[in-house]
Amino acid sequence: MEVEIYMKNSRMNNDFKEKKTALITGASSGIGYEFSKLFAEAGYNLVLVARNKQKLKQLADELEGKFGTSVMSISKDLSASTAPQEIFDGLQQESIHIDILVNNAGFNVYGSFSETDLMEELQMVQVNLVSLTHLTKLFLPGMLIKGYGKILNVGSTGSFGPGPFNAVYCATKSFVLSFSEAIAEELQGTGITVTALCPGATKTEFFKRANMANINLLKRGVMDAKTVAEIGYNSVMKGENVVIAGTYNKLMIFLTRFMPRDMITKMVKDMMSVGKNNYQ
Ligand SMILES: NC(=O)c1ccc[n+]([C@@H]2O[C@H](COP(=O)([O-])OP(=O)(O)OC[C@H]3O[C@@H](n4cnc5c(N)ncnc54)[C@H](OP(=O)(O)O)[C@@H]3O)[C@@H](O)[C@H]2O)c1
Repeated sequence: MEVEIYMKNSRMNNDFKEKKTALITGASSGIGYEFSKLFAEAGYNLVLVARNKQKLKQLADELEGKFGTSVMSISKDLSASTAPQEIFDGLQQESIHIDILVNNAGFNVYGSFSETDLMEELQMVQVNLVSLTHLTKLFLPGMLIKGYGKILNVGSTGSFGPGPFNAVYCATKSFVLSFSEAIAEELQGTGITVTALCPGATKTEFFKRANMANINLLKRGVMDAKTVAEIGYNSVMKGENVVIAGTYNKLMIFLTRFMPRDMITKMVKDMMSVGKNNYQ
């Protein structure tokens, strides 16, 4: 299957050869949308990936108009196992090299594992974990040849421990952190850096989409997507390995180092619940 690439005008092909290019998945909303603006402002050409074709086109037009950067959009469902290869092949055909890969697309399936929908969960594993691994596998060799590249993988504070009512989601995000730290170490000295950004609760479409807009966690304050994206952007530019977004989240993760694991699990269960405290 061919990939459909949207480009506003043909001059872009030259721009893509001359300037550095960042590919951002999940660019149509939330943190990915903010990443797109930051990279465009910094002068990168962009390849934006998500399912919502209309939103991607609007964003591409907005970024080109505002920052004069060249933007391609590719509407793809990353829950399809063939999507990463199709994206890669489509860009190869246009001779477009990716210097920065931002694996940001992701979603949650909320609820007790005994009740959640298996197909949705398998799609989540495919988007949050398999497509991220697959895209990294495909774009890394080109970065190695050039001796330059940056990979930003979006994990979560949920990467650091089990998440009752988000059991599969947190497991996918643990994978993202573990995978990112491991390959960052393997790639030392190659000119390629790998950064895992771990946001806590952030105001985006995420909670509404997962039907979890009333959970206790959200009563403790949420960060805005722009701030989280800025933290991720600055960290990737410095080539940092792991960054937890926000002082409160950093402190929480630090404190969990000194807590028994079953206590952390019960605490997260309460945060992910609606209403009453479940862990006493
Ligand atoms: N918000 C939070 O509190 C929070 C906390 C920790 C980590 N995170 C992580 O941050 C990342 C961004 O999420 P967000 O908070 O910005 O949520 P969001 O506003 O819901 O954005 C999610 C993005 O992922 C894309 N996406 C979802 N399913 C996809 C699929 N099957 N194929 C292709 N693209 C898909 C969506 O685009 P389309 O719908 O157009 O496809 C959208 O652009 C995710 O990895 C999430 O797990 C979020």
